[in-house]
Amino acid sequence: MRLLIYTGKGGTGKTVISCSTAIKLAEKKYNTLIISSDPAHSLNDAFQLHNAVTRNNNDNHAVEVFPCLQALQIDPTLEMNTKYREIISYMASMFSSKGIDEILAYEIAMMPGMTQLFSLLKVEEVMRLRSHEVVVLDMPASGEALRYLYFPKLVSKISNRVTSLLGAFSGFAEIFQAFSGISIPTKVLRYEKDLFKSLNQLSDIIKDNSITTLRLVANPDSFSIENAKRAFMAASLYGINTDLAIINKILPYKYAEVKSNEFYTNWTKFQHNKVREAKSNFYPLPIREVPLHSTELAGIEMLRVNADIIFGEDDPSKIFYTGKPYSIIDQPPKNLRISVKVPYTEKQDFDIKRLGSEVIIKVKSPTGYLVNVIPLPTITFDMKMISTRLHNNTLNILFERTAYSH
Ligand SMILES: Nc1ncnc2c1ncn2[C@@H]1O[C@H](COP(=O)(O)OP(=O)(O)OP(=O)(O)O)[C@@H](O)[C@H]1O
Ligand SMILES: [Mg+2]
Repeated sequence: MRLLIYTGKGGTGKTVISCSTAIKLAEKKYNTLIISSDPAHSLNDAFQLHNAVTRNNNDNHAVEVFPCLQALQIDPTLEMNTKYREIISYMASMFSSKGIDEILAYEIAMMPGMTQLFSLLKVEEVMRLRSHEVVVLDMPASGEALRYLYFPKLVSKISNRVTSLLGAFSGFAEIFQAFSGISIPTKVLRYEKDLFKSLNQLSDIIKDNSITTLRLVANPDSFSIENAKRAFMAASLYGINTDLAIINKILPYKYAEVKSNEFYTNWTKFQHNKVREAKSNFYPLPIREVPLHSTELAGIEMLRVNADIIFGEDDPSKIFYTGKPYSIIDQPPKNLRISVKVPYTEKQDFDIKRLGSEVIIKVKSPTGYLVNVIPLPTITFDMKMISTRLHNNTLNILFERTAYSH
């Protein structure tokens, strides 16, 4: 089984690219499921199915688009209400027993990102049932959305520890009980145990590089490239394999030389540079370039054409790249080293400086400077960057802990 996850900044084309991928997979006779938790019900729009994906969908079931292709538009609230209501209600009652207004208690119990997590738990359920060979997950737009991919790992680690400390039937609820003095209904304990089990399994699926693959979607602009670059770094740190970057909505170059249209020429030149920048930023990932179509990309026919542009003869379920482009090596007591693969050599003319949570590398090229942004992990925020060394396409950045660092 394969799980392909598309992520990227809002509006870059995650949904249409996920749909294109799913269509191509179905044509290759893989039993495919596309899942989206976008509240805007975007699968309907992309496939132009006149609400078929969500009509009568009162139980979060998949709908057939055509043979071998099913679509599931998850309603996270429904998912929460049917499966996790007991836990949320219990947490809310615990907060309100502490004097918090009930309305507020429910809001607090529903922590940020919970709905995204419930959608991911649905993915776990689908993968567990093994009803499909390839699952394509269209993530909603949010720089933070990806965090919830890592959350299961965190929770499963905590729950494992708690479980081993307090015995098989303990967990969060038991700790809450100790604080609140409210006894926990056995039903909640059972639900909680199931929840931890699902989170554990979800974590195993996401970390398994032979199953899960993350794909980045960006447009030829600095903002979306930077956003995707950060996701790339974070995924690498969490051990999630990223295998492809797609630069979407590129103005066709062939019109760039039409001198009469300076506006168009400026934009194509700008984008051309951004595509080159993206190639350097996502190095060593393979890059696929997708043009801006002459009209809004939607409908099965257009999505199919789009899939051919992205994948050609390739099988979209293949793993296009495996590797660890970022690594962090702790060198106690004082240092921490970050190694990043970069597409240039020490002979090139470049300038490196740290700017807050990023290291910016400007490389001189015949057409100006190319900017490569290296997002830094949070641990380095109060560390001092003391040296940078480029060797064999690897940039080594050495940090030193300051008096404030732990
Ligand atoms: N290559 C393209 N050519 C023309 N239109 C495109 C192209 N790619 C995407 N679009 C259009 O851009 C819009 C946004 O695409 P889409 O909904 O797939 O983005 P998204 O990243 O899923 O957005 P969100 O972050 O809101 O979920 C849609 O109207 C889509 O048809
Ligand atoms: Mg979308």
